Amino acid sequence: MAWAFGMSLLASAATATPLSDYRDYDDDLMRDLERTVKFFEPDITAQNADAALEDAEVLAGGFRYTEDYFRRKPGTEDAVEISRKGGKLIAEARASIGKADFEAAAATAREATTVCKSCHDIYKPRLAR
Ligand code: HEC
Repeated sequence: MAWAFGMSLLASAATATPLSDYRDYDDDLMRDLERTVKFFEPDITAQNADAALEDAEVLAGGFRYTEDYFRRKPGTEDAVEISRKGGKLIAEARASIGKADFEAAAATAREATTVCKSCHDIYKPRLAR
């Protein structure tokens, strides 16, 4: 059954790296997102609406970027979906901040953070967080 073993090796190699070429990926933006996501919820809890809205702007831009990026790649519809979900959550958080409902905004901000991880789990397996 050596052939079967060989086939399954090939198959698992293919699923382990759905996208192996990120040379055109904007890592600087990702690092900006990482910094921003750390301030987002604390800014909201501190009821610092201006800072929180600035954070939201950066994060919304990040999710727009990942949505566009993965839309151009074949077979990554789930990453596009994940990005849209992130964008939607940021829009919701913004609306809550606008209404000074900081409690709802903080909950939404926490949920948005898990969106980063759900994409990394699939598309960045070596550095999943
Ligand atoms: C739809 C997919 C997707 C979403 C959403 C996403 N990322 Fe990423 N991220 C990636 C991929 C793919 C890489 C790996 C790029 C590479 O290997 O060059 C990456 C890399 C990173 C890195 C490492 C950059 C480096 O120095 O190499 C950080 C930090 C990061 N992301 C943070 C975030 C944060 C924070 C969020 C959410 C606000 C987020 N990402 C949302 C796909 C995503």
